[in-house]
Amino acid sequence: MIGRTKPDSVELEDKPADSHVASTDQDRFGKIFRRNTPYGTVTEHGTMFVGFCSDQRPLTTMLESMAGLPGGARDALTRYTRPLTGAYYFIPSTDALLRATAAAGRTT
Ligand code: HEM
Repeated sequence: MIGRTKPDSVELEDKPADSHVASTDQDRFGKIFRRNTPYGTVTEHGTMFVGFCSDQRPLTTMLESMAGLPGGARDALTRYTRPLTGAYYFIPSTDALLRATAAAGRTT
């Protein structure tokens, strides 16, 4: 389902097209920085995926690919997970924030 061996996380040579690593192949879609963080209690829990990129396109095309668009295999991970919500956030660089505060006549 993931496309890697379980004991040592080595990428499979012949991974299935619907494996998660094939669906989000960074050589194909572009590089992202990502973190999965578990949350919740014994009765209600899950994992929160966060992906960072200086360009929105790799994240968008990875999500489309996971959904099987356009005309591809749906990511096998989606058979074991239930997405609850999702959003894109824009995080300005420190330089851009400093320029914006300077333009507004503020020093902090
Ligand atoms: C519940 C949600 C998710 C889980 C549990 C999950 C889990 C995993 C796991 C176990 C791996 C393989 C281990 C590794 O390569 O480090 C992986 C790889 C990856 N995942 Fe996810 N993932 C989730 C959602 C997503 C989403 C929504 C995206 C993109 C929008 C994404 C992008 C990636 C990428 C880019 C890789 C590395 C692929 C490569 O080897 O090039 N994941 N994920």
